[in-house]
Amino acid sequence: MKTPTRFLAEDLGTVNLADPATYHSHDLAGYWRTLRTERPVFRHSESPQGPPFWVISRYADVMNIYRDGDRFVSAKGNLLTTLLNGGDSAAGKMLAVTDGTRHREVRKVLLKAFSPKKLDQVADRVRRNTRARVASVVERGSCDFASDVAVHIPMTTICDLLGVPEEDRDMLLKLNKSALSSDDPDATEDDERMARNQILMYFSELAEERREDPQDDVISALATATIDGKELTEDEIVFNCYSLIIGGDETSRLSMIGGVQAFTEFPDQWEALRTGAVSVESATEEILRWVTPTMHFGRVARYDTVLHGELIKAGDPVTLWHSSANFDEETFGDPYRFDLARTPNKHVTFGYGPHFCLGAYLARVEIAALLTNLVEMVSRIDLSGEVVRIHSNFLSGISGLPVMFTPSGAFRGV
Ligand code: HEM
Repeated sequence: MKTPTRFLAEDLGTVNLADPATYHSHDLAGYWRTLRTERPVFRHSESPQGPPFWVISRYADVMNIYRDGDRFVSAKGNLLTTLLNGGDSAAGKMLAVTDGTRHREVRKVLLKAFSPKKLDQVADRVRRNTRARVASVVERGSCDFASDVAVHIPMTTICDLLGVPEEDRDMLLKLNKSALSSDDPDATEDDERMARNQILMYFSELAEERREDPQDDVISALATATIDGKELTEDEIVFNCYSLIIGGDETSRLSMIGGVQAFTEFPDQWEALRTGAVSVESATEEILRWVTPTMHFGRVARYDTVLHGELIKAGDPVTLWHSSANFDEETFGDPYRFDLARTPNKHVTFGYGPHFCLGAYLARVEIAALLTNLVEMVSRIDLSGEVVRIHSNFLSGISGLPVMFTPSGAFRGV
């Protein structure tokens, strides 16, 4: 149980949400609670990172804005960084930053490529891969859970789904790490841009190969799909491959790491899971809520809109804070309690409405596979060193988690 510290309304302007350093230096639970109760539609002032933007903190408002894809659009950016820097270069090409009819049509192509048969195959590999990774660290006893286990699972999953050859996967993982957030606070935006371009070039070449010789994978599906008799553009193919890798890797990884960290902090909850007092499914949902790996997403208002007495003008950036909505006491009883048995648990971790996460099923499979294997092979989980947090104004979580696993009586080795 965490108790949010008191945060005065007159101090709300002292927190700069656009600065990644804020998330290291502040415990924001009190700040969010004050916003939710006193300023649910808050105008964040201009900062060195860019112009002012609206901050939406209540669960109900976040859901309503997500639902209204006509009034609040994504094509001008859906992350603070792009919203404050004049838009997203992938606008109209990548699903998450495309609106309206084109969004619906391309989403349909991707949903078709995520067929139940394909998802079953990928889920099977997730379970096998996770079992092997967990068994190997339990045998060793101690490990860095982030770099020895979690780092290997989501990337393998997405690469299986996309059809990325084994030999290219390490390179992609490295690029992906520098493209989105960073363990390194000194990494520049140029480094990030370069990594992103390299990923795009890689997919462009692979799509070309698959157009000639299609396989049963998402790259081939995108490269050969047609809408109204016309193929997708080169940019749509490449940016949508990229969006799966960038959307599916770090988010799932941070969820798994955050879940294990929470077990070290709340051993009673680990015990409840281990003994079967709570189900793996219920625990998975609470981990997703508790960790909330994507702190926010955003939209731009298309029309003037009045919300809770504040005028949001057409063209204004509006940010929707999962890290507040998932702890809104109007929706979640005792929200600062890590409670694996929480029910209902309608967290907003995967968003809502027309852009609801396409990878939610796979992310859940990954976390559930981890929990199932931990329950089977581990009796105790203890922290054995210093936790390292990532540096980002978008993602929240841990990139270094030294832990000791004590094997269960049932553990038979690798
Ligand atoms: C715990 C892990 C994950 C979290 C927290 C997460 C979160 C989200 C959220 C909040 C959105 C909505 C964005 C918006 O409304 O602007 C989203 C969209 C999306 N996610 Fe995920 N995601 C996760 C895993 C995955 C995985 C594994 C994949 C790929 C297999 C994926 C692919 C996508 C795609 C393609 C979209 C865009 C959908 C659209 O615009 O229609 N995500 N995700």
